[in-house]
Amino acid sequence: MSVVIMTGGTSGLGAVAARRLVAAQVDLLLGARREGAYRARSLPLDLTRLDDVRVFATTVERMLGSETIDALVLNAGGYAHGGTVDGYDATFVVNHLAHYLLIRSLWTRISDGGTVVLTTSGTHDPAEHTVVPPPRHANAQWLAKPELDPNRDRSPRAAAGRAYSSSKLCVVLTARALRARTDTKARRIHIIAYDPGPTPGTGLVRDEGALVRFVWERLATPLRLVMRKANTIEDAGGTLAALALGTIRPPDGRVYAALRRGLLTWPTLSELARCDDVMNALWHDSARLVGLSD
Ligand SMILES: NC(=O)c1ccc[n+]([C@@H]2O[C@H](COP(=O)([O-])OP(=O)(O)OC[C@H]3O[C@@H](n4cnc5c(N)ncnc54)[C@H](OP(=O)(O)O)[C@@H]3O)[C@@H](O)[C@H]2O)c1
Repeated sequence: MSVVIMTGGTSGLGAVAARRLVAAQVDLLLGARREGAYRARSLPLDLTRLDDVRVFATTVERMLGSETIDALVLNAGGYAHGGTVDGYDATFVVNHLAHYLLIRSLWTRISDGGTVVLTTSGTHDPAEHTVVPPPRHANAQWLAKPELDPNRDRSPRAAAGRAYSSSKLCVVLTARALRARTDTKARRIHIIAYDPGPTPGTGLVRDEGALVRFVWERLATPLRLVMRKANTIEDAGGTLAALALGTIRPPDGRVYAALRRGLLTWPTLSELARCDDVMNALWHDSARLVGLSD
């Protein structure tokens, strides 16, 4: 039986993916703040707490025994608020830094030929022209401690949007950095940064006002008609499950997958996401932020 470790499987498109994985008979282990509404093992994990990630990884290793991980599905994310107990920006930690630490902690336990899927967002790419302000940089020091960024947004709404899109750029850059490792090639590990595309009906806007929540959560079907690139939760979650199961594999040289109106595309990366210096700096700075040496 395949072993899949997943975050973000309790709600939205991740819950759909988790159900599909269970239906495909995988041995699914969730890291989550609460139980999912289906039969899967679950361990407590609040991604705003780096110590939770360390404990989760150690517990997973112990539970695995001699088994390995066929797929690591890092889907949790969204807009978090304020700072974490570690003193970093919560959106940056939940979307990027905690998953970075989890990958580094479980990397040697991933099977040869296994898969790592990280959920990103099209908001990271200025060419998508989304309503969310695009990233200006992927400087981990500034994203972790926005008060250090000399050009930070003064409006809380713009700052929250920029924190989200920037953290999702970090996800794409981390996927690229993982793919560039020599052992990734040697062990034939597949790395995918997956943008599910605009997917109304999920919990993504849970902290917005009542009207936005009502439209996003209750009027998802008409909303999709007016959103050019939108997907159903079933399509977005089903595609995540297919990527995790290896039913869909990245074409040669591609790491970034984006779902658009139910169709999986493999777009060219944005200028910042393509930049090796930015990628390497993010990798090393993220290591320092979580107390690792490289
Ligand atoms: N929906 C879209 O339009 C869209 C577009 C592009 C990308 N995405 C990305 O897709 C992923 C899934 O989002 P969704 O739209 O399905 O939203 P969602 O329904 O809010 O799902 C978010 C998932 O992440 C988990 N999560 C959030 N913060 C966490 C934390 N601190 N610790 C542990 N788990 C945490 C949630 O757990 P709880 O159940 O405990 O809250 C939930 O399982 C996210 O990474 C999001 O950024 C969504």
